[in-house]
Amino acid sequence: MSIRRAVALGCGSYLPDRVLTNAELSKTVDTTDEWIRDRTGIRQRHIAAEGELTSDLALAAARNALEMAGIDQSGLDLIIVATATPDQTFPSTATRVQNGLGMTHGFAFDVQAVCSGFAYALSVATQFIEAGKVDTALVIGAETFSRILDWTDRTTCVLFGDGAGAVVLRGEDGTGAKEDRGVLSTELRSDGRYNDMLFVDGGPSSTGTAGLLRMRGKEVFRHAVVNLAAIGEQALKAAGATSDDVSWIVPHQANYRIIEATARKVGVPLDKVIMTVAEHGNTSAASIPLALDQGVRDGRIQRGNLLLLEAMGGGFTWGAAALRW
Ligand code: UT7
Repeated sequence: MSIRRAVALGCGSYLPDRVLTNAELSKTVDTTDEWIRDRTGIRQRHIAAEGELTSDLALAAARNALEMAGIDQSGLDLIIVATATPDQTFPSTATRVQNGLGMTHGFAFDVQAVCSGFAYALSVATQFIEAGKVDTALVIGAETFSRILDWTDRTTCVLFGDGAGAVVLRGEDGTGAKEDRGVLSTELRSDGRYNDMLFVDGGPSSTGTAGLLRMRGKEVFRHAVVNLAAIGEQALKAAGATSDDVSWIVPHQANYRIIEATARKVGVPLDKVIMTVAEHGNTSAASIPLALDQGVRDGRIQRGNLLLLEAMGGGFTWGAAALRW
C-alpha cells in the first residue's frame, strides 16, 4: 500500500550569542550553580540580545534548515512556527518569518502549545502533507522566554533560555511500513484542568500585558514523567514500532531527571538520548528541534534512524512523534 509520508529534508537551529551561566545568575538571585546542576542538569542558557526577537531567531534557524534541505523559500508551501513568545500578539510570528524569507506565496501560521509546541506543529504539518494539501513545510520552534521570566523568582528564572530550531518536511510516497522514512506517527494530548500549574499571569484579554511565567514545579514534574512515557509508547505503537527500534530519543529539554526517568520508563537506554539541557536550559518549543539539529550535525543521528520525540508543557499539553530520519 502506498501512502504519503512527511519526510525530513533537513534541519537547522540558532542560539543567541549571549551565554548566561549559573555562576552569573547566582549573583542576582539566591541560588547556586550546584543547586541548579543537581536539580535540573542546566549549566548555562542563551539569552536574546536587546531588540533580537523570536522571529529573528526563527529566521536564522529556518535559513540553516533550508540550506541543509538544499531548497530556498520558493520550494516551500507552508510555514508553522510553534511559540509561546511571539513578537506581537498579532500578526503571527510565522508571517514575519515568511516575509523575512521573501516568500509571498503559500501560507504561514503559529501554533501555541508552549513546551509541546514543536510536537503539535510537526503533527499539524504532517496532516497537511499526508492529506496532499501541501508538498513542503517548514516547521519551526522559536522562543524568547527570557522576556517572560520573573528574574527575581529563583524557582523559575534559572530554568529557561532562548533559541530556535527548524525542520523542513516534504511529502514522499512510502509503503506504510515502519521502515519508511518520515513521520510515522504523532500523538497529541492536553488537559486544561491543569492550566494553573504552569502559566503566564497576563495576556491581551485579561491584563493587557504579556505577563510573567509562574510554575508549580513539583506538580509539573510529577505529571511529566507519567505523561511523557505514556504518549511516547503510544507514538511507537502507532508507528508499529517498539522501544527496541528506537535509535534516539530527542526529548523536550526541561530537566535531566525528567528525561532520564522517561527514557527508563519507555525502555530506552540513556546513551540513546540526545541531551542538550546543560547548554541550552529549557527553550520551550525550540528545545526538540535544537537537540535534533545538534544530534544530526554532530553525526549521532544518521539517515534511517528511528527517532522518538516527546514533550510536555503548560496547559497541560503533551505530545510525541515517531520519525524515521
Ligand atoms: O517545560 C515545561 C515543563 N517544566 C518542567 O518540566 C519543570 C518541572 N519541574 C522541575 O524540573 C523541578 O520541579 C524544579 C527544577 C522546578 C524544582 O526542583 P525540585 O527538586 O522539585 O525542587 P523544589 O521545588 O521541591 O524545591 C526544593 C527546595 C525548596 O526549598 P525548601 O522549601 O526545601 O526550603 C526551594 O525553595 O529548593 C528551593 N529552590 C531553590 N534553591 C536554590 C527552588 N529553586 C531554587 C533555586 N536555587 N533556583
